[in-house]
Amino acid sequence: MKWTKKHLLSIEDLTPEEIELILKTGEHFKSVLERAIPVVPALRGKTIFNLFFEPSTRTQTSFSIAGKRLSADMFNFSVSSSSVKKGESLLDTAYTIQAMKVDGVIVRHRFAGASHFLAKHLKCFVVNAGDGTHAHPTQALLDGLTIKEKFGGIKGLKILIMGDILHSRVARSNIFLFKKMGAEVYVSGPPTLVPPYVKGLGVEIVKRPDSVIGDMDVVYLLRIQFERQNTGFIPSIREYIKLYSLNRERKKKMKKGSVVMHPGPMNRGVEIGFEVADMDDSLILTQVKNGVAVRMAVLYLLSGGSYEGIN
Ligand code: CP
Repeated sequence: MKWTKKHLLSIEDLTPEEIELILKTGEHFKSVLERAIPVVPALRGKTIFNLFFEPSTRTQTSFSIAGKRLSADMFNFSVSSSSVKKGESLLDTAYTIQAMKVDGVIVRHRFAGASHFLAKHLKCFVVNAGDGTHAHPTQALLDGLTIKEKFGGIKGLKILIMGDILHSRVARSNIFLFKKMGAEVYVSGPPTLVPPYVKGLGVEIVKRPDSVIGDMDVVYLLRIQFERQNTGFIPSIREYIKLYSLNRERKKKMKKGSVVMHPGPMNRGVEIGFEVADMDDSLILTQVKNGVAVRMAVLYLLSGGSYEGIN
């Protein structure tokens, strides 16, 4: 199958076949990353800009590494030392970067729709690296690759997403991807942090995670996004931990062969027990590792590369 989309803005836009193509291409690039010299010339001469208006550790770094492994010239835009501080708008900033002849921009912004807005105005490709509470498609894709690698596929698996669903772009993107790929998806969290609309996405809302946790293949944890909340979504952290944290006690209820995932950053001791993230069945660092391979796949396909022409 040939990739035809100009941008990667959300999982909603993708067909299951397109998701499969990205994952398959990511698997190939994962094998490239195992080589003694983990670099291919696929994007030599291409210029790609990381345009991050919100903090990031994993996404920004892994896009930079992914581009460099493909031999692209990668540049990071630092908002704190840019003319954004003097009042320059998102669009003028993007036009300015485009005038320097870039082939693609990777955008993270606190406003939902920011990357769609840029995609409408720019000639180069745009990748959404997280827009407000809306979408984070490459996180969902790297999670898809991690689950596929572990279980051989995603279809038929039972996946529980637990935590602050309301403010999570990762939850939204992952629900779309897991459902499109045939998984059964459950969500659980304090009622104030689980928006009723998720039912319309085909997931089951679970009041008490303990009632289903023993039946799940994947328990996917989300932190509480205090930075996106005004106030008062949960009565107390202590109560949250008691009901929803994957602490050591709750983890014992998970079945043999099941795995723990988290997109990061983690708040150890809150949504995840201090030591649970480091246990053998935690895939958290595998997710980070797969982020580079999946982002290589995304940059490669958006730059006109084909799976058949890969080396
Ligand atoms: N998962 C994720 O998006 O992490 P960063 O905010 O560190 O990029």
